[in-house]
Amino acid sequence: MKKINRRELLKNGGALLAACSLPISLVEVAFGKDSGQNFTFAFVSDSHITHIKGKQFVNNWDRGLIRAVAETNLMDPKPDFVFYGGDIAQLGKPEEIDHGLEILSGLSAKTHYVMGEHDYYVDLGDYWRKQLGPDHYSFDHKGVHFVVLNSILTWEKWMHQKWDTGMDRMKQMARLDNPNGQPFMVGETQRKWLKNDLGKVSKDTPVVVMSHSPLQKIFKGWNFWTDDAEQVQALLKPFKKVTVLYGHVHQIQTNQIGNISFHAAMATAWPWPYPSTYSQKESFLPKLTVEMNRADPFFERDATGWQFIDMSNGDVAVNYQLPNNQNRVVAMDKKSGKPADTMYQAADKRIPPQDNY
Ligand SMILES: [Fe+2]
Ligand SMILES: [Fe+2]
Repeated sequence: MKKINRRELLKNGGALLAACSLPISLVEVAFGKDSGQNFTFAFVSDSHITHIKGKQFVNNWDRGLIRAVAETNLMDPKPDFVFYGGDIAQLGKPEEIDHGLEILSGLSAKTHYVMGEHDYYVDLGDYWRKQLGPDHYSFDHKGVHFVVLNSILTWEKWMHQKWDTGMDRMKQMARLDNPNGQPFMVGETQRKWLKNDLGKVSKDTPVVVMSHSPLQKIFKGWNFWTDDAEQVQALLKPFKKVTVLYGHVHQIQTNQIGNISFHAAMATAWPWPYPSTYSQKESFLPKLTVEMNRADPFFERDATGWQFIDMSNGDVAVNYQLPNNQNRVVAMDKKSGKPADTMYQAADKRIPPQDNY
């Protein structure tokens, strides 16, 4: 029987399904043993819709989001829901949020939203919340507890100091290497809320946390960083299986700290450079337990895309859908107990030099 890859599947839509074999991941989702806990959801992030003037927006960023929406809608079986990982807008302007939401309204599955700093700092999230509701919340789905946090807050005093305009504050946060930028944090109020929320959840329940910034400390100079990450991790420690999915870093990052697996999303807008370039600045990069693989850096749209997630009994497999690069799957490697890029890093696929990490 002809084997089809996912790209062909997406291109040709549901009609092919009747005639051809399904990709493995979808077979598992549809017919897995514990089907109550096997499902997929899509994860789209960091579109940075940028307003120029009037009805003009930066076309390249629009295209990335339009493509992600179209491909998400072609998933078959359909995803149970979609997560949008934050940074809909570039400078948080209502025009940008509205335009991004107009494109995202094409999604056929229910969408849960995460606040990004580019959505927040112009008006401290007022317009975003008006359109989308609370910025932190939780829900249960097929035996998994999902938590959404607003991880891009910072010191109250800094946020509320007298700024000439909200845009001045936004511009302090909306770039890399800005000495006036402030570290992101979840903050005490949400940490208390999280503690209370998790208090009602059995320790055997798989927990998936969605945040915009990584709930780990990677690189402070670019705010690939959450200042109270350890305190949040401590609240998640008692659970058997925890996954944190985040946006913001616009690249594949995978890490395992204790019981917590961390996975980043590709952006639909542009990729940020990769860890080897972090040495330009003082590095806070912890020893990553899983090294990431760089896709091809020579495509204009290199390393942009979207993700879908296979949930299988609480284990997360992130399927990176990269229009101009080979798709990747980062999944829990049972042998090593850490997530691994299944094509390159899984214990049984490793080539000798990679055995060092
Ligand atoms: Fe972003
Ligand atoms: Fe961001």
